[in-house]
Amino acid sequence: MDLLAPIPARTLPVSAVAPGKCILFGEHAVVHGAPELLLAIDLTTQAVVLPTRTGAPVLNADTDAREHNAYFREALARGWATGPPVEVRTVSRIPRAAGLGSSAAFAASLSAAFAAATGGIDRPRLAQRAFDVERAAQGVGSPGDTSASVAGGYVALNGGPGDPLWTVTAAERSWEVRRVADPRWVWVVAHSGVGRSTAEAVRAVTQRLAAEGGARRLEEFAEVARDGIAAVGRGDRVRTAELMRRNQELLVEVGVSHPRLEALLAAAAPAAEAAKITGAGGGGSIVALPVPGRETDLVRRLARAGGLPFVVRPSERGAELLGAAPPR
Ligand code: MEV
Repeated sequence: MDLLAPIPARTLPVSAVAPGKCILFGEHAVVHGAPELLLAIDLTTQAVVLPTRTGAPVLNADTDAREHNAYFREALARGWATGPPVEVRTVSRIPRAAGLGSSAAFAASLSAAFAAATGGIDRPRLAQRAFDVERAAQGVGSPGDTSASVAGGYVALNGGPGDPLWTVTAAERSWEVRRVADPRWVWVVAHSGVGRSTAEAVRAVTQRLAAEGGARRLEEFAEVARDGIAAVGRGDRVRTAELMRRNQELLVEVGVSHPRLEALLAAAAPAAEAAKITGAGGGGSIVALPVPGRETDLVRRLARAGGLPFVVRPSERGAELLGAAPPR
């Protein structure tokens, strides 16, 4: 099966699903053009688009959703500008504001469903559209989350020797997205329960980098991510763990840690080869590489420390229509 096949044309009702993501290396620095490594995770958002007789688009029974939800508004503007009013229902298993890509999965699944109902779309254009939706709604950010959600599996931005998937552009720069081989590892993620805004965290780090003349700091992030992409790609756990620890130090230095995240990282230490913040930080989640055989112990430790832990496997499937492929 071609996991990167175009999204085919369908008539309404259309149902699409897209995975969340977890960042292993390079969050924040990727916004400024440095490399990043992410994997799509086996938690998804599903969007169903149905015809409706109401005069305005509806999202999960909210008839004013265009006013309340910038992602919905931007997805409509980019994918359904001339279409008749529709009802959209979403079901998500991805915790919100947790650094696990819930908004990217919303943008990718809804963009895929709209695109299917307007003639279909290839993956590079879907990756660009999902990013445009998220970027317009958030005002800042990179296409890492949306590209992982569209591609599935492990993906690198601006690094790695893997097959190029696509290039995503914004007004100020572009990012090259490549496939990275799946090392077949299990990861454990734990949500701190502290919500946070990606846009606020990105703006705070951007200001901090500017204030400290961030070129050198960005190069440190870039080196770690570049080496991390290579280490994961060749299945080198020891080096990956070292680099995760270094990446965590850099994230602390740019100010995105939080006492709850520090508590989770400390709790994970005895049962993890390494652990770090994943995503924007300031709250949200950590990701840990478990000591093999100690996955359950690690989950227990994180739960005892007050986190919401779960074992994460990569989703090799990215955004797709439901009904076109075997259920996941
Ligand atoms: C958010 O998941 C990751 C950040 O690097 C922002 C972005 O890349 O859009 C903090």
